[in-house]
Amino acid sequence: MGWGARQGAPEGPTMDEKQQLFICVGTACHQLGVRDVLARLEHLLCEEGLEDHVELRGMFCGEECEKAIYMQLGETSFGHVRPHNIEQVFHEQIRPCLRKPTCVTG
Ligand code: FES
Repeated sequence: MGWGARQGAPEGPTMDEKQQLFICVGTACHQLGVRDVLARLEHLLCEEGLEDHVELRGMFCGEECEKAIYMQLGETSFGHVRPHNIEQVFHEQIRPCLRKPTCVTG
């Protein structure tokens, strides 16, 4: 799973690109445990079989520190994520926004 840093607003994916879930690694988000959130997110994506369809990317301060830990997926943002609630946020908010992997039938 790729992991890179970026600056600026996320760009929308094309249909054949991995979806990029941007996670703020700025100071406020770091202090609230973004490293633990990332580890759990990677595990959740694997559990859902989405590790090849979603790229986790770091971004510098999203200027939404009052919502830390802060994430963006396209035009959708997710705030107040914490290590203790990432599973709930993932299943209730993030997962429904992800494209389903293309099914290959024989
Ligand atoms: S440090 Fe994460 S939004 Fe500012």
